[in-house]
Amino acid sequence: MRELTKKAPAKLNLTLDILRRREDGYHEMKMVMQTISLCDTVSVWVDTGSGKTIVRTDNAALPDGPENIAYKAAAAFYAATGMENTGTEILVEKHIPFCAGMAGGSADGAAVLHALRELTGIALPDRRLEEIGGTFGSDVPFCVRGGTALAEGRGEVLTTLPSMPACWIAVCKPDFDLPTPALFHRVQVDKICRRPDTEKMTVALSNGNLSAVAAELGDVFEEFLLPEERIKIDGIKKTMLNCGALNAAMTGSGPTVFGLFDRESKAQQAVEVLRAVYSQTFLAQPI
Ligand code: C5P
Repeated sequence: MRELTKKAPAKLNLTLDILRRREDGYHEMKMVMQTISLCDTVSVWVDTGSGKTIVRTDNAALPDGPENIAYKAAAAFYAATGMENTGTEILVEKHIPFCAGMAGGSADGAAVLHALRELTGIALPDRRLEEIGGTFGSDVPFCVRGGTALAEGRGEVLTTLPSMPACWIAVCKPDFDLPTPALFHRVQVDKICRRPDTEKMTVALSNGNLSAVAAELGDVFEEFLLPEERIKIDGIKKTMLNCGALNAAMTGSGPTVFGLFDRESKAQQAVEVLRAVYSQTFLAQPI
């Protein structure tokens, strides 16, 4: 029996644009994604002798069995490689809020793929690992790659971008959930008024200009929030800006809000103020 423990970093959307609804029911996306230091921890054991995959988590709200994305990752890995599953056990320790727009589940799936590649010693190129990830979730290929990237198509067509400039990030999940399919269901592509400028964001990243990156943050899902959701999201943004954030925006299909700061003390202050209201508030950095 062999074991490996991996970090599974959350992602933020520096930009998120929805171009059109596709024939297959998915949406054509254009997004700049960034991994951050807020991580789950995923431990994987192989050769346990059971001949099957067992998934456990430290959070009773998450499914343990085949519905867990970590389970799907192991199934996809063995199916794609043709390797025999001689028994795989996975333990997911959750720190990333779920139904939150931070790809917490996809991050766990990506960590399982990385762990299984290493534990089995199979020679799989990174691109192939990303492809396997794409078979069980649109955000998984980005989570396999990590860093800073442009994501197009369903989210699986990736172009690595220059790293985000060093900064401090306050991350706040409000006290309600927004499941991704439900938010996509609300979207009317022809009603989108303000789209982020992906080109300008790319230039800002190339120049390593944090203020310019902050100025270009934008997520079109924000246009489809219900009034009671918008009040909370705007309240969190305002608190972050009052504490000195360069800018703040929602990430993914929400409802998590993040603010970019040039100083740790300001970000820490925002985290303290917001944590008094919303327990799932964190200080993070780009990784
Ligand atoms: O790929 P994933 O399983 O993460 O997607 C969950 C759901 O989100 C899909 O079933 C679909 O309803 C929606 N989705 C979409 N367009 C995308 C990605 C996801 O409509 N590009």
